[in-house]
Amino acid sequence: MRVLIVKNYDEMSKEAGKIVKNRLEQKPDLVLGLATGSTPLGLYKELIRMHKEDSVSFAKVRTFNLDEYLGLKPDNEQSYHYFMFENLFKHIDIPRENIYIPDGQTKDPEKFCQWYEDEIEKAGGLDLQVVGIGGDGHVGFNEPGSSLASRTRVKTLDEGTIKDNSRFFAKPEDVPHFAITMGVGTILESKEILFVANGAGKSAIVARAIEGPVTSQVTASILQIHPKAVAILDEAAAADLQRKDYYKYAEEQARRFEKSL
Ligand code: F6R
Repeated sequence: MRVLIVKNYDEMSKEAGKIVKNRLEQKPDLVLGLATGSTPLGLYKELIRMHKEDSVSFAKVRTFNLDEYLGLKPDNEQSYHYFMFENLFKHIDIPRENIYIPDGQTKDPEKFCQWYEDEIEKAGGLDLQVVGIGGDGHVGFNEPGSSLASRTRVKTLDEGTIKDNSRFFAKPEDVPHFAITMGVGTILESKEILFVANGAGKSAIVARAIEGPVTSQVTASILQIHPKAVAILDEAAAADLQRKDYYKYAEEQARRFEKSL
C-alpha cells in the first residue's frame, strides 16, 4: 500500500483530487466508487472546483456509493442520497442515470443488493473506490466481524457508529440502526482504492488498519491485501504509524525517481 502523509486536511483533499483527476484523464468513463461522511467533503469540493475551473468533465462517469441508511427517503437531509447530491452531484455534469446509491427504501433488500452487485459488474467493475474509516475500523458500513468476503447486503450498525453518526442527526434516536453497504469483498474487487483519513481522532484506528493484522475486526485492514491501494493521511491521522518516517522517505524517493525519468 502506498501511504502518503500530508500536512493537513486541505492537502489531503487536494492530493486525493489529483488522483481522481488523473484517473479521469486516463479513462473519461471511469467507474467511481464514492463514500459519504466528513472526510471526503474536501475531496468533493476539490472535484467541483476542478469541474468549474479546469473543465474536468464527469459526463461519462458512473458512480456507485458505498452505502445508504435503511429506512431514509432520498430527500431526507440525513440520507446519503441527499448528502451526495448536495455536496457533489448537483454541482457537476454527471447524468442522473449514471448515479447509483443503494436504495434505503427498498422493500426487498436482498433482491436490491444483488441488483446493485450486478450493476457494478455490468459497468465493468469499479475502477477507483474512495473509502474512509470509521472509529471502529469499518470500511463502508462493514462493522467489526464482517466477513472479508462479504458482498452488498444489510448490516446492523455498531453502537459506536450510531453514536459517531448522531452528530448529523437532531437526536441520537433518529440514527437508523441498519444500512445497505457494499461488502468487503465488493470493495476489494475495485481496481484501485483511495483511502482518506484525517484528524487525531482517527490515528489509533488508522495505525491498526495499515500496520496491524488483516482482520475482520478492523475491516479497513483489507487495504493491506489490495494490489493497488493508496492511503492519504494528514499528519494528525498518521501520528500513530510506526513506520511513518519510512513512508515519507519512500514518497520523497519516488518523486526523485519520477523526476529522473
Ligand atoms: C461512508 C462510509 C463510512 C465512513 C466512515 C468515516 O459512506 O462508508 O465508512 O467513511 O464512517 O466517516 P467520517 O468521514 O464521517 O469520519
